[in-house]
Amino acid sequence: MVKICCIGAGYVGGPTMAVIALKCPEIEVVVVDIAAPRINAWNSDQLPIYEPGLDDVVKQSRGRNLFFSTDVEKHVAEADIVFVSVNTPTKTQGLGAGKAADLTYWESAARMIADVSKSDKIVVEKSTVPVKTAEAIERILTHNRKGINFDILSNPEFLAEGTAIADLFNPDRVLIGGRETPGGQKAIKTLKDVYAHWVPDERILCTNLWSAELSKLAANAFLAQRISSVNAMSALCEATGADVSQVSHAIGTDSRIGPKFLNASVGFGGSCFQKDILNLVYICECNGLPEVANYWKQVIKVNDYQKNRFVNRVVSSMFNTVSGKKIAILGFAFKKDTGDTRETPAIDVCKGLLGDKANLSIYDSQVTEEQILKDLTMRKFDWDHPAHLQPSSPPTSNKQVSVVSDAYEAIKDAHGICILTEWDEFRKLDYQKVYENMQKPAFVFDGRNVVDANKLREIGFIVYSIGKPLDSWLKDMPAVA
Ligand code: UDX
Ligand code: UDX
Ligand code: ADP
Repeated sequence: MVKICCIGAGYVGGPTMAVIALKCPEIEVVVVDIAAPRINAWNSDQLPIYEPGLDDVVKQSRGRNLFFSTDVEKHVAEADIVFVSVNTPTKTQGLGAGKAADLTYWESAARMIADVSKSDKIVVEKSTVPVKTAEAIERILTHNRKGINFDILSNPEFLAEGTAIADLFNPDRVLIGGRETPGGQKAIKTLKDVYAHWVPDERILCTNLWSAELSKLAANAFLAQRISSVNAMSALCEATGADVSQVSHAIGTDSRIGPKFLNASVGFGGSCFQKDILNLVYICECNGLPEVANYWKQVIKVNDYQKNRFVNRVVSSMFNTVSGKKIAILGFAFKKDTGDTRETPAIDVCKGLLGDKANLSIYDSQVTEEQILKDLTMRKFDWDHPAHLQPSSPPTSNKQVSVVSDAYEAIKDAHGICILTEWDEFRKLDYQKVYENMQKPAFVFDGRNVVDANKLREIGFIVYSIGKPLDSWLKDMPAVA
């Protein structure tokens, strides 16, 4: 019987292993983590992450062939295949600060694997890491070896949060990279046999190690680039009177372009896009390719521009000041169907409005007050460290911020509403009632294009939708980007 151990019980490790355990009942899968609260939560009825369908998958296998444990060394020692899915933050100090990946957690995991192993193992890179990390890991593992053979594979995960279970059940492809040696090929075959339990053969792509590592960074960079491209168009649409939804539809019907990932928004967020692009930029610079680095850097610059533009639009429409005004923030997660706030555009938008002295009333059904307050006080890039290393004391409260548990409460007496996550709930609010409860003129700034702007205008709102023709009010109060 094959035994699998996954180091890191986060957004990637947890759901991925739960699905492997479900689809491969004869394989024992143990997910280990140094953060005891996280493991306790995985063993409870209140899983540590919100993901549609995940509860069901975990319940079916937990205690049968799926286990969650803090006994990291024991389970690593017993495993045949060790997945490594630990944090890879962006470095905040030293060489490559603000760009390069900090591989501290990866390296400590690798050293631990080398120390505790008593039998041959396949070590699988699951978290996104810079190209050629596998080589460094291989060195750590083989230098400590006591006659033990380690095969390194890169098996990047492409699941998106909010649809993780569906993505894992029915992936576009599974990518496995390994050494082109007989040992490397044998390791690829072993991992392929795991996925072959439910993924058709033609969707399991096998490459060399470097191609697999780079493909993950490239895929995220391409996806983010599409969003920055359409967001750049949205600014031009507002300036010219074109409608970005019509433009997206028109270009998306070209089969060479395709319709997905063309929704203009207040900006992309999430744990991967920015981090992976910064990483890509750093790798290009290190390889003497500044033109390529600058090309990809623009994707992030446009994303920052889009978030700034949104804040400027809010402030300029409201007579160039939001000082002392109540603004309702609807949605804080980086997208719907997740409680994850890592790199969410809401953080930058809220910080921008707070900088102009607004009072914010924030509502997101899946994000806790503690998380929101923490996010608004944390420094850039500090979020991506293991839970137990993050400050455990409750973050200091901010007099300008209140976090509420109901959208109508957030909206009451507000001058404006900013919709920052596309939760379905925000489409269905009773906007007549909302209007009556707000200060006038009442503004809606829709950062996700979820409301029917014309209906809201009929009620009396002044509405800003990303990339759509502007109300005459907004035209008269141009935002300075
Ligand atoms: C293009 C558009 O495709 C077409 O819709 C529009 O109406 C006019 O411009 P065209 O310039 O005729 O058409 O050819 P196209 O096939 O798009 O190729 C343009 C250039 O891109 C060529 O030099 C081609 O070699 C190059 N190309 C295309 C690549 O380098 N790589 C590719 O993957 C595709
Ligand atoms: C992404 C990749 O999709 C996934 O393959 C990879 O494994 C991890 O990174 P994720 O960050 O979970 O997944 O979510 P995704 O659906 O890609 O959305 C990322 C951000 O882009 C969100 O903030 C989302 O709101 C935004 N987005 C997405 C847009 O603004 N417009 C779009 O058209 C699509
Ligand atoms: P991702 O989104 O990539 O899954 P997360 O931050 O959600 O990332 O999860 C990474 C997990 O890895 C965290 O729960 C963290 O506690 C865990 N972790 C980090 N370093 C180690 C280590 N050396 N041993 C065990 N677990 C670790």
